[in-house]
Amino acid sequence: MQFFVDTAEIADIKKLYETGLLDGVTTNPSLVAKSGRNFKEVVKEICGIVPGPVSAEVAALDYDGMIAEGEVLAKLADNVVVKLPLTFDGLRATKTFAGRGVKTNVTLCFSPNQALLAAKVGATYISPFIGRLDDINLEGMELIEQIRTIYDNYNFTTQILAASIRSANHVTQAALAGADVATIPPSVIYKLVDHPLTKNGLEQFVKDWKSTGQSIL
Ligand code: E4P
Repeated sequence: MQFFVDTAEIADIKKLYETGLLDGVTTNPSLVAKSGRNFKEVVKEICGIVPGPVSAEVAALDYDGMIAEGEVLAKLADNVVVKLPLTFDGLRATKTFAGRGVKTNVTLCFSPNQALLAAKVGATYISPFIGRLDDINLEGMELIEQIRTIYDNYNFTTQILAASIRSANHVTQAALAGADVATIPPSVIYKLVDHPLTKNGLEQFVKDWKSTGQSIL
């Protein structure tokens, strides 16, 4: 499973990219607003750090506006993926961009039917939002499983990008359900490495190694 980080914070992106764990980045208007940065500048900067796919979302709600904005975003860098909302206009724009060889990420997916539509218009990625379904007492992870089955039934090549991930458990479950990618907030990526037995075991090894009085170098 590929790991994307879900943020527009440059410091986190740089730190995580250096670990070798990061395959790409997703942003959204809320994350850009939180960063306080100029949208196009921050997208360019992210694309200069991470060579993998970087999703940048259009703000327009109508087809013509989405096409105009998507063209601008796609020109910012070769690795920009144009992020479009799951509406009829967004799907139509996805089809147009697919025809031009521009990569797309169809966002705000909350049902298997929506995912089916995105695949039919040739989306590169579909972003089902797990956490937001859990927030309203639905089972977000079931959606990933259902989309996996549908896409496999018809050999759709659209990649399932598990989004709105809120916990380390979500990452495990998305991997088990066969998501191609998970886009994860930095705080959750840092938590993935933690285990109390790793911490305790390492403390003991350090103590015992010191007691030998030896040095490897
Ligand atoms: C995905 O592309 C979205 O940016 C993101 O995962 C949304 O997460 P949230 O529901 O925690 O805001």
